[in-house]
Amino acid sequence: MRDFNPRVGWCWLGLLALLAGGAACKGTVGGGGLPSGGGGNGVTGAAGAGGGLIPPPLPFQAGDARASVRKVKNLLTGQAPTDADVATVTASGAAGLQTLITTWMTDPQFQPNFRDKMIFFFRNAFQQTGFIATEDFKMQLQQNGGFDFGPLGTGAVGDDAFARLVQNIQDSFAITAYQLVLEGNPLTDVLTTRKFMMTTGLKSLYIQIEMPNDQPYSSGTKLAWKMDMSGTAIPLTDTLNPASPNYMVFDDEPPVTAARFLLQPTCQGTATVNPFGGTEPTTGGYSQLFQRLIGYTPRWQFLAAPQCWEHPSKPYLTTQDLSDWQWVSTRALNAGETRIQPYDLPTLRTTTDLGLALTRVGYYTTPAYLALWNTNDSNAHRVTANQALLVGLGQSFTSESQITPLSTAGLDPNHAVTGTDCYGCHKSLDPMRQFWANEYDFNDRNDFPARASFTGSPANPRPASKGGVFAFGSVNAAGADITDFGRLLGQVVDSADPANPVHRFALAMTQKLCFFANSAPCVETDPEFRRVALVFENSTYDFPTLVKELFSSPLVTGASDTATFDANGITISVARRDQLCAALSNRLAKPDLCSLAVPIPSTTQAVTSKIATSVAADAFSRGAESPVTPSDPTPFYRAATEMLCENVATQVVDATAGTVWASSSFASAIDDMVVRVMGYPASDPMHTQAASVLTDHYNAVLAQKKSSATIALRSAFVLACESPTALSFGL
Ligand code: HEC
Repeated sequence: MRDFNPRVGWCWLGLLALLAGGAACKGTVGGGGLPSGGGGNGVTGAAGAGGGLIPPPLPFQAGDARASVRKVKNLLTGQAPTDADVATVTASGAAGLQTLITTWMTDPQFQPNFRDKMIFFFRNAFQQTGFIATEDFKMQLQQNGGFDFGPLGTGAVGDDAFARLVQNIQDSFAITAYQLVLEGNPLTDVLTTRKFMMTTGLKSLYIQIEMPNDQPYSSGTKLAWKMDMSGTAIPLTDTLNPASPNYMVFDDEPPVTAARFLLQPTCQGTATVNPFGGTEPTTGGYSQLFQRLIGYTPRWQFLAAPQCWEHPSKPYLTTQDLSDWQWVSTRALNAGETRIQPYDLPTLRTTTDLGLALTRVGYYTTPAYLALWNTNDSNAHRVTANQALLVGLGQSFTSESQITPLSTAGLDPNHAVTGTDCYGCHKSLDPMRQFWANEYDFNDRNDFPARASFTGSPANPRPASKGGVFAFGSVNAAGADITDFGRLLGQVVDSADPANPVHRFALAMTQKLCFFANSAPCVETDPEFRRVALVFENSTYDFPTLVKELFSSPLVTGASDTATFDANGITISVARRDQLCAALSNRLAKPDLCSLAVPIPSTTQAVTSKIATSVAADAFSRGAESPVTPSDPTPFYRAATEMLCENVATQVVDATAGTVWASSSFASAIDDMVVRVMGYPASDPMHTQAASVLTDHYNAVLAQKKSSATIALRSAFVLACESPTALSFGL
């Protein structure tokens, strides 16, 4: 059954009708000019369809070569199909598509686009994104230190080092997964890897998380350092040199971009030298020094009415320090090993072997993952364990579980009553969360406070031993430490189809890609789905093999019927935020057209990214087995994409710098829009019709009062940008 949603087309319904030989949609296009304000461009005004109309299910219709190439190439690279692509698939079907997919994954022309697509996929798949840095790092980096900037927030943080570091935190594991795969390793390495792609900034952060809890209100020894507020630069080599008079003195160089609002006085530019840490009361040691590294000078002292207010300074972490990705192996500290200091950037820049107190392994112990799934004394790492299963297996606990865990160490007595619903889940969950609880304290740090603090956080003394019990699905085994969690997770075999056993990890990754491709699940007992997952598993979990197999499968192309379609129909999905933005950016060779990746946007970029972020995006949610992949063209989606297309129009038609199209040659511009934006290459039967719709629209807008060629061509672009093939997947 093809479950076609008529609302996808709105004003383009007439053009859609062309598929069935109907009339063009000339009559629906027109109205006001693009920038005339208020009424929009008249493009969407004609959307008569929708209104609760539910079409009867249609019988399965095989997708044609054009539709599959348009969908798959867009998914994997964001690029538009060419006549040659279509010819290849028309001639050789799925095998032809596999050849193309290999090209898209490896050819230098496409590989950077594919890489971005997969890094985006991995960031969500491994749940490394979505935290609020200034809130969710208050545990790992401490309150009143690290990313906790107080009432002025990031307004008191200088330049873009902090924003870049936050991006680094989100990207690190996704880049790690991509790099593992690129170097030919099995994807199962994401379960056990102890090496990660890191920047200098990240190395500093990993170490800072392990530095003593010496925030301003702490007692005990604090790292002693000073801030010279004069604004004169002090080279870091002097600061790090015990023989220099500036040893452990950090400077207060102003940032490149001045702050908009500050409390006074900041003391910046005065002859003051403020001591931090040591025996200095109400100041922090490491915790506040780390703030200085990322461009924030904390108030001195940490009081309600300080002598010097917090303010932005030039970050010590350079852009290079926040983009110098390289492999870093993490390992346990050796006995008596001298730790690299988090502020020793010259040493960190060349370090590829990082001794750490906390074990970092797989996707489930990264700072990003632990910030996202913050735990506490009540949750006690249950969320951490549960999400790790949802990522790696696509499954979570059920009270029907018949397993009798090898050991129930860690089982909370309140949940332990045999026979209760609670017991069914918690008998496995509680011993499993011990993997984390025995090596990470409730702040996901290494402090393990022996006594309750006066601020109310409870005692969380270090357990005597490490490890936990993995009792889930087909596995029931004890693990010696957190690294065994991933190893055991990789052993779980699916039981849904005993005749065709497949490891859950293979199924889970295949399923996440199904959502990525179709915005809908594949049926896990569908023989075609299991075939693809098994090919992946039998290729030693070679990720490119999975991509090639799944994206050329009828599950994605709709080239033939599958049990999945029989059960769920085919979803024609909207292009979500990152898909739409990647398609526009990659096809028009204008990187990051939606301004989603700029660390600190300019005013114009901020407008664009605000609009772009209102377009529905991929996500995931707590406790959910399925990713969140909105597919409906809701009124919100329609309004947001219209605004985005209008915003982008000014960047690509008669733009002041680096324009893509000029209204002086509107005819060729329109033809190019049909090819690149709408995805109809020259030989496509829809090409001519689409070009004439755009041309009619161009002429209609041009004929209006106060119009111009620029306004008309921008409006034609908006129409192309809002066309069904640009805004949807699967047509
Ligand atoms: C279907 C499986 C399941 C059942 C049944 C279940 N739990 Fe849970 N429980 C979980 C999972 C999974 C988590 C962690 C979820 C999270 O934090 O995202 C959890 C978390 C908890 C927590 C920590 C909450 C917090 O964040 O502080 C408590 C307490 C708890 N469960 C008690 C119970 C009790 C009592 C029952 C029976 C009335 C029960 N649970 C039944 C799966 C279950």
